[in-house]
Amino acid sequence: MAKRILIAYFSHGGENLIDDQIIDLKGQGNTKIAATALSEALAKRNIKANLFEIEPLIPYPTSYSETLARSKEEYENGSAPLINDGPNGFEAYDIVFLGYPNWWGTIPAPILSFLRDHDFEGKTIVPFVTHGGQIFLYSLETIQKEAPRANFAKGFAIAAPYINAAPYVIEEWLNENKEIVE
Ligand SMILES: Cc1cc2nc3c(=O)[nH]c(=O)nc-3n(C[C@H](O)[C@H](O)[C@H](O)COP(=O)(O)O)c2cc1C
Repeated sequence: MAKRILIAYFSHGGENLIDDQIIDLKGQGNTKIAATALSEALAKRNIKANLFEIEPLIPYPTSYSETLARSKEEYENGSAPLINDGPNGFEAYDIVFLGYPNWWGTIPAPILSFLRDHDFEGKTIVPFVTHGGQIFLYSLETIQKEAPRANFAKGFAIAAPYINAAPYVIEEWLNENKEIVE
């Protein structure tokens, strides 16, 4: 039977520091771009996957400095803010691609909330990260700690200034990891 695949991701998509410049990503955040490229790459292989955007009920400000301030506080307090419900039928998924930007060296707080809101027993989590140079850093161990009953597969990472290369990185990953999605 075909595997049931979810691509769940959080992406800020507001102002960000790219190559030392503040740029407003206007809702098209790097992780959203990577998640969309992943769903398109799977569709090209006739593999169905559902996209789900993880959204905090109180959105992050567009401002880079204000987002840094709020996320730093969340990171330091280990907070897990309220997020949107869903996706529907979460129990039925076999593979959960989990996409996020590296924030403060680890997962953003809404990803922590998503991990705590769902039961991952029997599912395989495939993490993918977009980052400013630190790749996954501490995020993998945090995910494993928060979802101890999940299986894990090695995902992929894309550096923010090279987000346009997402389709190539993903194609290479799919070629090397066919057995995870087929
Ligand atoms: C609040 C905040 C904290 C960040 N912390 C890190 C970090 O610790 N290490 C790193 O490599 N990049 C860091 N970055 C850069 C982001 O990981 C990177 O720009 C990412 O691609 C943004 O994805 P998005 O557009 O989907 O939100 C940070 C960005 C923000 C806004």
